[in-house]
Amino acid sequence: MSAPPSKEATAPVLFGFPTTDNLSQALATFVLKAQDEALKKQPTFRIAISGGSLPKVLGKDLIGRDGVPWDKWEVFFADERVVPLDHEDSNFRLNDEHLFSHVPIPRQNIHVIDTSKLDDPEAVADDYEKQLVASFVGSSSIAFPRFDLVLLGIGPDGHTCSLFPGHALLDEMDGWVAWLNDSPKPPPTRITLTYPVLNHSLRVAFVSTGEGKQEIMKEVLDNPNPKEGLPSSRVRPISPGRVFFFSDDAALK
Ligand code: 6PG
Repeated sequence: MSAPPSKEATAPVLFGFPTTDNLSQALATFVLKAQDEALKKQPTFRIAISGGSLPKVLGKDLIGRDGVPWDKWEVFFADERVVPLDHEDSNFRLNDEHLFSHVPIPRQNIHVIDTSKLDDPEAVADDYEKQLVASFVGSSSIAFPRFDLVLLGIGPDGHTCSLFPGHALLDEMDGWVAWLNDSPKPPPTRITLTYPVLNHSLRVAFVSTGEGKQEIMKEVLDNPNPKEGLPSSRVRPISPGRVFFFSDDAALK
């Protein structure tokens, strides 16, 4: 009889690359491996993607790959700014520019915020949570969704998603999607996946590039503190989930 799976988080894995282009190639391969593993056991590959510098690095190599079953992708946003989809701050728009507009992911498989509720961020978060429930719950009831892959960035203050240092949302342990209107990084009004969702994912990959990330990467890698540390350090999925860091040499010097 095999041992029951451990609930303990496993150690993060760091991948370093000489250039951002090398990182983009390896990231595309990593994403497609996660996709293949997901599709062996289920009909869709469920991925959550952030904004910032990530979509450009992600799209660079991925959009040229052959034979990708894009119709089996189901995409959510790890966080989203509560703005119209064509607004320059929209994470949908950014990902559309660098990825979605180049590949045939069915539009209904890209889960965007309900823009008819922009003046009520709580309603936007509730609606987004309902979209997650509809995708993940199916016929059985589950406590939290389990993404096949979540792709995140790290801000200079250690934030990730829209989970900022010292913010009350760091303690949100029940909801799947939360909202805030006091983000220190503009724009102020956003929705974000919560820690329980991030920490039930099968894979979380942080992507950080460029010398502007040197200090924060040193802090995150040298002083991990999953309980009380920086928001990005608190992402430690329970087994069999794993955290990966994809960084270029400039970010790791
Ligand atoms: C957002 C992001 C945010 C981002 C980090 C890193 O929408 O603001 O999801 O969490 O990933 O701020 O951004 P950079 O990679 O651009 O530094």
